[in-house]
Amino acid sequence: MSKKKGIVFSGARPTGRQHLGNYLGAIQNYVALQKDYQCIYCIVDIHALTTMESTLELRQNSYEMALDWLAAGMDPQESVIFIQSHVPEVTELHTYLSMVTPLGKLTDLPTFKEKVRQHPDNVNYGLLGYPILMAADILLYRANYVPVGIDQAPHLEFARELVRSFNFRYNTNVLVEPHMKATKVPKVLGTDGQQKMSKSLNNHIELAATPEETTKRVMTMVTDPARQRRSDPGNPDVCNVFSFHKIFSSPEEIEMVNRECRVAGIGCVDCKKLLAQNINKHLEPFRARRIDLDQKPEAVMDVLHDGGKRARVLAEETMVLVRDAIGLPSTK
Ligand code: AMP
Ligand code: TRP
Repeated sequence: MSKKKGIVFSGARPTGRQHLGNYLGAIQNYVALQKDYQCIYCIVDIHALTTMESTLELRQNSYEMALDWLAAGMDPQESVIFIQSHVPEVTELHTYLSMVTPLGKLTDLPTFKEKVRQHPDNVNYGLLGYPILMAADILLYRANYVPVGIDQAPHLEFARELVRSFNFRYNTNVLVEPHMKATKVPKVLGTDGQQKMSKSLNNHIELAATPEETTKRVMTMVTDPARQRRSDPGNPDVCNVFSFHKIFSSPEEIEMVNRECRVAGIGCVDCKKLLAQNINKHLEPFRARRIDLDQKPEAVMDVLHDGGKRARVLAEETMVLVRDAIGLPSTK
């Protein structure tokens, strides 16, 4: 493909506007990998269907996520950025892979059990096949590395086993075993300081929020619970606000907060104001680019359509080899 060190593939469900958890846990990493790897990044709208009751917001959410990705520096000149359903070959590969997947492997996956707990009234066949579709995403592009959070480790291991089963069953080496690239920031906590930042828990800070909205959210952040009054000394080691300072503030500011919090020299209100200021400063160029991109929605969709075309060429190359390896009757 190019002089790069290998192929990277990752996907994310179209959850709409992205938050600091997505940014620190995934998007920054996607951007950083572009220089050294041939990267393929996918908005996995078919996966989203597995747990969706209504598809009303699916298009808008995919668009908003693409805006965030592009504004954050995911570069269509460097990477292939596209929407999963624009490459229907993935569903074909999913079907072939399902033939070498023992049912028990799917029902045993902790991620499946968790989804069943969350959606007891909608345990559909697609949900069971979710990991096969994810494997198909990765294998279709013969990706070497998959940057994901640690929660996806069982799916990655499943994909690797699937490659071995398929290649063994059809006596081929057409499918490539992918390696997991665990992200460096495994879990960003939300404003509650307890749970993973997530839209569904409403403890998130959106990248595209205005500076005022951001400040408002930061001011609601839970701090060291042992610090009741302004005059109490605090412990930055257990304070989620301090974790964010370590990411967004200068070394001098981090040093100052660390020192002054412990002797009640700085109060939580001022500490959070400083953090909000620094988050807003960090996101300023991102927000300007996002507003710019949003002026031309067709251009954003063109990026995704073009990415889809490029992805489809790669997908078709793999599928020719896969169909042949299986022994399907030739079309010519
Ligand atoms: P999701 O929106 O849950 O589909 O996640 C999309 C990507 O963002 C995945 O790679 C997640 O690992 C990452 N992500 C989402 N929320 C967080 C969080 N609170 N901390 C770290 N990474 C996150
Ligand atoms: N299952 C992943 C998640 O929930 C999303 C996903 C779908 C994915 N296909 C993928 C991630 C392929 C990496 C590679 O986050």
